[in-house]
Amino acid sequence: MKILFYTPHSDASAWLHDLAQALPRADLREWKPGDTAPADYAIVWRPPRELFARRAGLRAVFNLGAGVDAILALEHAQPGTLPREAALVRLEDTGMAAQMAEYVTYAVLRYMRRFDEYERLQAERRWHVLEPHPRRTFTVGVLGLGVLGTHVAKTLTSFGLPVRGYSRSEKNIGGVATYAGAGQLDAFLDGVKVLVNLLPSTPDTHGVLNRRTFAKLARGAYLVNVARGEHLVEEDLLDALKDGRIAAATLDVFRKEPLSADHPFWNEPRITITPHSSAETLREESVQQVAQKIEALERGEAISGIVDLARGY
Ligand code: NAP
Ligand code: GLV
Repeated sequence: MKILFYTPHSDASAWLHDLAQALPRADLREWKPGDTAPADYAIVWRPPRELFARRAGLRAVFNLGAGVDAILALEHAQPGTLPREAALVRLEDTGMAAQMAEYVTYAVLRYMRRFDEYERLQAERRWHVLEPHPRRTFTVGVLGLGVLGTHVAKTLTSFGLPVRGYSRSEKNIGGVATYAGAGQLDAFLDGVKVLVNLLPSTPDTHGVLNRRTFAKLARGAYLVNVARGEHLVEEDLLDALKDGRIAAATLDVFRKEPLSADHPFWNEPRITITPHSSAETLREESVQQVAQKIEALERGEAISGIVDLARGY
């Protein structure tokens, strides 16, 4: 079987080495511009459109991340970019759920125990005890109860916090109050103290973190966006911080990455910024999962993680 590999990062040789070990029968090559030779599978992260040109024989495209928005954007801009017969397959967890749970737990506990405010007091050399937030009203709402959101929500319940989750279809997750569908969004948001976003980026979810959403939360709520920058209406967050509706935000993702040096978020002390690093793609776990799925397809078996192109995730 012939396999194409592409990443815009510089570590292609390490990936090719590990893939060759996991798939010893495969004929692996790094895709370079101009390569239209036949391939059975493509393993890619943020590929250029050209990679898909004249790829009639491609059976599956493995996306080296959970979010497939970059690939689907190519298809939306120019329908027919993705070969019709090729399944688009996303990574399922591969170590990202644990990383995401660490990141979100850190942010939630930092706000609950008011470490963000103690950091500012320390900078002013002020010794001052702050009243802790009451745990029973420190409700965390997780938007998106997929592979990552479910793990994050379950992890947060272990701190005795009230945890809610929101998804498209109904869920039953021990200790988590679940809400499903647009009709239950307002009830989900009502009084939430920390809103965590783990939705996929789709036309339905773009701009979901907006002034109307913020108005439903508890006053002085916190926002943790670890999904995609397109979910957030940036001006609405700045306004909500100004009027106190939102107390602080932790943002890992942005509409334009890297965040430009003159972006107003850098000047807002109540926004904590990380460079899209909340859950990294881990090579060992990802190679293992993709290799197992390719072997399964070769045996004619069904695999999980196939993206529904109409739904967009
Ligand atoms: P997933 O398994 O596909 O889960 C998506 C969840 O969102 C599902 O629960 C789904 O509902 C729900 N959903 C989708 N559209 C919805 C809508 N319109 N209304 C309500 N709920 C909706 O995805 P995942 O693996 O958990 O990953 C989530 C996202 O995290 C990725 O798409 C990616 O953008 C982001 N991510 C970021 C990083 C980072 O480093 N910052 C790393 C990895 C992933 P159903 O369950 O009912 O289908
Ligand atoms: C990272 O952002 C991913 O979608 O895996």
